[in-house]
Amino acid sequence: MNNNLIINDKKNQDLFFICTYGCQMNEEDSEKLSGMLKRIGYERTDVKEDASIIIFNTCCVRENAENKVFGNLGQLKALKEKNPNLVIAVCGCMMQQKGMADKILKTFPYVDIIFGTHNSYKFPEYLNRVKQEGVQVKEIVDKESKIVEGIPIDRKSDLKAFVTIMYGCNNFCTYCIVPYVRGRERSRKPEDIIKEIEELVSEGYKEITLLGQNVNSYGKGLEEEINFASLLRRINEIEGLERVRFMTSHPKDLTKDVILAIRDCDKLCEQVHLPVQSGSSKILKDMNRHYTREQYLELVKMIKEEIPNVGFTTDIIVGFPGETEEDFKETLSLVKEVEYDSAFTFIYSRRKYTPADEMENQIDDAVKHERFNRLVDTINEIVARKNKEFEGKVVEVLVEGTSKNDESRLTGRTRSGKLVNFTGDFNNIGKLVNVKITKAQSFSLTGEEV
Ligand code: 5AD
Ligand code: SF4
Repeated sequence: MNNNLIINDKKNQDLFFICTYGCQMNEEDSEKLSGMLKRIGYERTDVKEDASIIIFNTCCVRENAENKVFGNLGQLKALKEKNPNLVIAVCGCMMQQKGMADKILKTFPYVDIIFGTHNSYKFPEYLNRVKQEGVQVKEIVDKESKIVEGIPIDRKSDLKAFVTIMYGCNNFCTYCIVPYVRGRERSRKPEDIIKEIEELVSEGYKEITLLGQNVNSYGKGLEEEINFASLLRRINEIEGLERVRFMTSHPKDLTKDVILAIRDCDKLCEQVHLPVQSGSSKILKDMNRHYTREQYLELVKMIKEEIPNVGFTTDIIVGFPGETEEDFKETLSLVKEVEYDSAFTFIYSRRKYTPADEMENQIDDAVKHERFNRLVDTINEIVARKNKEFEGKVVEVLVEGTSKNDESRLTGRTRSGKLVNFTGDFNNIGKLVNVKITKAQSFSLTGEEV
């Protein structure tokens, strides 16, 4: 027998490619899919054409994310024709939408496996069925399952890790599809979270970001009485861990206890991601956000008082139904008042089955785009000005590796979350160092290790 042939064949059989759309939750799900595949002998590739399994982990939060998936699935037809043994799987939030799985199978009949957000832990089983029986598998579970612990996770970084502390969302903001596709809030047990972080630390991880759609309601429904602030304080005790961040906080649920935990706990970074969505109380009410502009600003004031040098980031939507020029100006003025360090800005996208999609006063596309551009200009100006304030200052940076754009420099982030590219000792990768900022760019800082 020709040995080369066997080796080559094995190599092709064993590679998988994952394309992830959307948020950090999906990234984490993909790390789990990847972890499960590695456990059964597959290896990851970044070259689609080399893979024997291609997975699309989809997002449906905005229409353009969906359109990208349709476009990319269409392109797989040629690959499948060339290699009929190729297994194509589509999963994630988009699949949880009514009728979507059938639409995909009808439009792209060469897709082999379809599953949703609640049963992704079963992927190896589905794969086996396709391989053994040559069948197409479509399994969407409508109701959220119990939390499945112990799934291997193949993380992208060996320094920073995301750890999910809760799944789902109960908030039903009127524009948002997440509660429909990710189910109700479920918290992981604190001992499972702590154990995962301790294991990460023993493997050399230095920074953890705790994840959840609404981390501030952590603990509800658990047997043990625990809330997010007490979880943070327990995590802060873990020896060897350097930094802890978390996202996302809902302004209506962010308590003073959590703010004080950030102030008091040395490992908790001074960074708060606090999505405002709009600066107009009228729009906030229509969005079902349960806070007013004034309450949000009050919260920001309290955070700034308790945590000096806090880094503030946010999410903002422009063009929500009924948004007038006056409402939009309130968003601009709020952005100027808070002075965010960065902001994720979105054009409102109509999502089927959400209440906002039924609202009559939808905003014209041209108006949405014009407002979006004005908002981005305003934010960029603020971010650049805030970055300038760092010039001459010394900041603590966790050295993550070589800078993407310049191999002679290192890169990392400050405790408040700012990206820093700097000259320094390459032996310090993975360590905390002090960096003097010499120049501020629009979206990052430049400096030298001191
Ligand atoms: N249109 C535009 N942006 C949206 N987001 C959620 N749903 C929509 C939508 N229909 C944004 C919100 C949220 C972020 C993750 O995505 O700002 O905080
Ligand atoms: Fe969507 Fe609102 Fe839940 Fe965030 S809090 S996931 S915006 S419903």
